[in-house]
Amino acid sequence: MSRRRLLYMGVSGFAGALAVAVAKDRLLIYPSQAVYNLKKDFKVVGQSSLKKRAAAKGLIYGAAFGRDFLASDKKLQASTVRECGILVPENELKWDALRPTPDKFDFTRSDWLAAFARTHKMLFRGHTLVWYQQLPQWFKEVVNRQNAEKFLVEHITTVTKRYAGRMHSWDVVNEAIEPDDGQQAGLRQSPWLQFLGADYIELAYRVAAQADPKAMLVYNENALEYSGYKEEVKRTAVLKLLERLKSRGTPIHALGIQSHLVAQEGALNAKKLRSFLSDVASLGLKILITELDVSDQKLPSNPAVRDRIVAGIYEDYLSVVLDEKAVIAVLNWGLSDRHTWLSTFTPRSDGAPVRPLPLDSSFKPKLAWNAIARAFDQAPKR
Ligand code: XIL
Repeated sequence: MSRRRLLYMGVSGFAGALAVAVAKDRLLIYPSQAVYNLKKDFKVVGQSSLKKRAAAKGLIYGAAFGRDFLASDKKLQASTVRECGILVPENELKWDALRPTPDKFDFTRSDWLAAFARTHKMLFRGHTLVWYQQLPQWFKEVVNRQNAEKFLVEHITTVTKRYAGRMHSWDVVNEAIEPDDGQQAGLRQSPWLQFLGADYIELAYRVAAQADPKAMLVYNENALEYSGYKEEVKRTAVLKLLERLKSRGTPIHALGIQSHLVAQEGALNAKKLRSFLSDVASLGLKILITELDVSDQKLPSNPAVRDRIVAGIYEDYLSVVLDEKAVIAVLNWGLSDRHTWLSTFTPRSDGAPVRPLPLDSSFKPKLAWNAIARAFDQAPKR
């Protein structure tokens, strides 16, 4: 690369990544080698909300919310009602939130979110019944090989029955595949696998279907989006799992692709992603984008530059996935940068607030909002 091409961008404070201008309007980010077009026009036609743009294509748009943030912030409530057609509790339906003791359930906070969704005519979705994380403190001492099935069945039955007929969809099992763990069929080493063996997955779907025959039952998974070797192996293992469940007549209806994208890292390979989506669709499954956000942890500090790069990633990703008609819903993991798990999960080393979501911290739409709106406007109708 010539010295002129290595012209250092006039953006201060690089947090881990090296950004180099390769042309007047193009920024190259190391180590991902991704080139971002900084002059891209994210023009949007009309004023309508993401919810309406999605609905015009037969799609559902929404986001995850924590009860405390939503209950205490009228502005967040107004943005939520305007933009979202579906709401998912960020933590309130997880084991550690619902199960203060082995024999008690506390639905206060999840009920609040369900009521908010209902009042504002939004769909409600559940996350998640079976996961290896966010288990209560007592779980380790109490649950074992002998009683694990009883706990699993009782939990799924009680929780799904509570919202039966009112749930659009349930992430029944979350993140069950981790090929790096070296278990059979790429399964993750989790307490459920350890206590019940591989059949815990099928059992979970059967119990959920019995308790709420109306809800769409989803298998939700992370790290499926990028083209790297690890992701390729994971996609293959997930497809095999879905094939097996379908071939055994398990009541499973959709795959949830979390879509926690990372600006400086993974490369998207549209061809590989499309073929994965079409393989899933050909099993007769729908697809939901369940937890979309774009980490800007390692991007240059200039917020305007970050916002452009993040928006470009949103539009590139959504334009690929929305081409697949089995994709029926897109949810962000949070709506505004004011409340995002990434501020603690992947904070920036320069201390600047992260900007991964469609609205800024004062609830103003950012370029990421435009990018999502454009992707919906360009998507084929379902
Ligand atoms: C995250 C929440 O956003 C955080 O508030 C919590 O501390 C940890 O969990 N994949 C998932 C979600 O399936 O449940 C996670 O949510 C984010 C990653």
